[in-house]
Amino acid sequence: MPAPEREMIETERLLLRKPLLEDARSALDLITDPVAMEHIGGVHPQAASDPEFVVRRWLERWDDNGCGPFSVIRREDGRWLGRVGVLVWDVRAWTHTTFASAGEFAQPELGWALASEHWGRGYATEAALAVREWAYAERAFERLVSLIAPVNVRSQRLAERLGATPGETIELFDNGPHVVWEHPR
Ligand SMILES: CC(C)(COP(=O)(O)OP(=O)(O)OC[C@H]1O[C@@H](n2cnc3c(N)ncnc32)[C@H](O)[C@@H]1OP(=O)(O)O)[C@@H](O)C(=O)NCCC(=O)NCCS
Repeated sequence: MPAPEREMIETERLLLRKPLLEDARSALDLITDPVAMEHIGGVHPQAASDPEFVVRRWLERWDDNGCGPFSVIRREDGRWLGRVGVLVWDVRAWTHTTFASAGEFAQPELGWALASEHWGRGYATEAALAVREWAYAERAFERLVSLIAPVNVRSQRLAERLGATPGETIELFDNGPHVVWEHPR
């Protein structure tokens, strides 16, 4: 029998696990912050009144694709910091999709977002490195990219720290021009 696929990752300071509906309250700081959400689709109109709706959408991605955003938990005190994980895009129109519906046009993306209180401590780098290793090892993706708006300097710095390299600029269906950063294996 094959070993069960890992949906939990431990790093020096962090625990990354599949989100739980109970994460919704902790996620409020991130999902209702217009600055943090600016480059990742903006604040959803339901985010403040029904944060579980947002977490349910993260879980749907896991159900559809066998991957999605991990909740990033600080091991020291159990604090929910943000979400880092793998999203799937259809490269024909750069829309969200599933592997099943996009087939050969599906492109997995390593994406990251932390509540702003936790920026500047290296947590996103630590989480992204671990998820990248997981994605290449456990999901055997051929190519992993990050889509970053040219004005999102913090995100670009993170991509550089991770050794990713900038390539073409594409137009995201709902969010303007983004540079495709390619991750090393
Ligand atoms: C993009 C984002 C995740 C980057 O967060 P970040 O905190 O800058 O990135 P890291 O967690 O890797 O932290 C790196 C910073 O922590 C500092 N740092 C402190 N302690 C550190 C440690 N132990 N290890 C590594 N870096 C450390 C680094 O020097 C660096 O500082 P700098 O920003 O002054 O260069 C964050 O800005 C965010 O969530 N933005 C909103 C969502 C978003 O735009 N997502 C991306 C869409 S493409």
